[in-house]
Amino acid sequence: MTASRSNHRKRVLSGMRSTGKLHLGNYVGALDNWVRMQDEYECFFFVADWHALTTDYADTSRIKENSVEVLLDWLAAGLDPERSTMFIQSHVPQHAELHLLFSMITPLGWLERVPTYKEQRANITEKDLGTYGFLGYPVLQAADILIYKGDFVPVGEDQVPHVELTREIGRRFNMFYGKHRPVFPEPQPLLTPAAKLPGTDGRKMSKSYGNTIMLTDPEPLVRQKLKTMVTDPARVRRSDPGNPDVCPVGDLHKIFSDRATSEKVNVGCRSAGIGCIECKSWAADALVNILNPMQERRKKYEDHPKLAWDILEAGSARARKVAHATMNEVREAMGITQN
Ligand code: TRP
Ligand code: SF4
Repeated sequence: MTASRSNHRKRVLSGMRSTGKLHLGNYVGALDNWVRMQDEYECFFFVADWHALTTDYADTSRIKENSVEVLLDWLAAGLDPERSTMFIQSHVPQHAELHLLFSMITPLGWLERVPTYKEQRANITEKDLGTYGFLGYPVLQAADILIYKGDFVPVGEDQVPHVELTREIGRRFNMFYGKHRPVFPEPQPLLTPAAKLPGTDGRKMSKSYGNTIMLTDPEPLVRQKLKTMVTDPARVRRSDPGNPDVCPVGDLHKIFSDRATSEKVNVGCRSAGIGCIECKSWAADALVNILNPMQERRKKYEDHPKLAWDILEAGSARARKVAHATMNEVREAMGITQN
């Protein structure tokens, strides 16, 4: 007997913390991958607002707004409510119940060893992360994943240890309570091919560096950000040849420009045949090309907010149905049913 769902399209499940509007790095790092997965898999995508609370619990004034901004960017990027179930974590309270039960069987040592936990405790000094909830972050994530019995979890490299811990928690649950019939499958991480997107200062694009290009940035702002973007530092004068392989603008071309433009950049930069200003304007063209259709789609939902709420509501209802069924199995396996 196995806990996996045979005769189904494989199920994919992933989440994103509710950080507000998304930037191009979120798109290239995760979202574009999710959009493609919709063709092949049954997809569940949710905004992890409870996870955002683990580090930002003191001020909750923007929590709902931040979740909705993420959802709007998902819809803008092409997640399709006809094919994907989209919802907000806190709208499915079953995650919390499973998290509680998992917390009973998760050894502390497993959590203290999680790399993201150790790193963030060491590096984030401006917030107090010495809370129960922050240590339990990966237990909540395990509940998020296992409650849908997902087969695959598309995540970036930093999240792979969380998926591994999820498998261990599921295994431990099965060992205690599922000897005859395992409740949980073992979901696999699907590593997102990491095209690290540089921000305008050449470091990895990240909200905390203030070097982002947002999915909602209007064309003039995109062009202006590109103008100030750093380039190959060896190319000081127009007559100096440069190297697109060490230039953040060169990276943008590799990711977003068509082959002919990339080739023109490659040859022109190395021979000083083109200038950086010209090269950056082509990169801006490529970005605007990608962002324009997204912004048009987003506008449709912004103009009719009810559309987005209906999508959320339908998604939450579907998610709750699946989560409810899993929780029945869980309580049954543990012998804590109500009748
Ligand atoms: N921890 C993930 C992140 O920070 C977000 C997340 C929460 C998640 N629950 C999840 C990702 C479940 C995948 C599956 O990016
Ligand atoms: Fe970078 Fe383009 Fe200038 Fe070359 S020409 S250094 S790729 S901006």
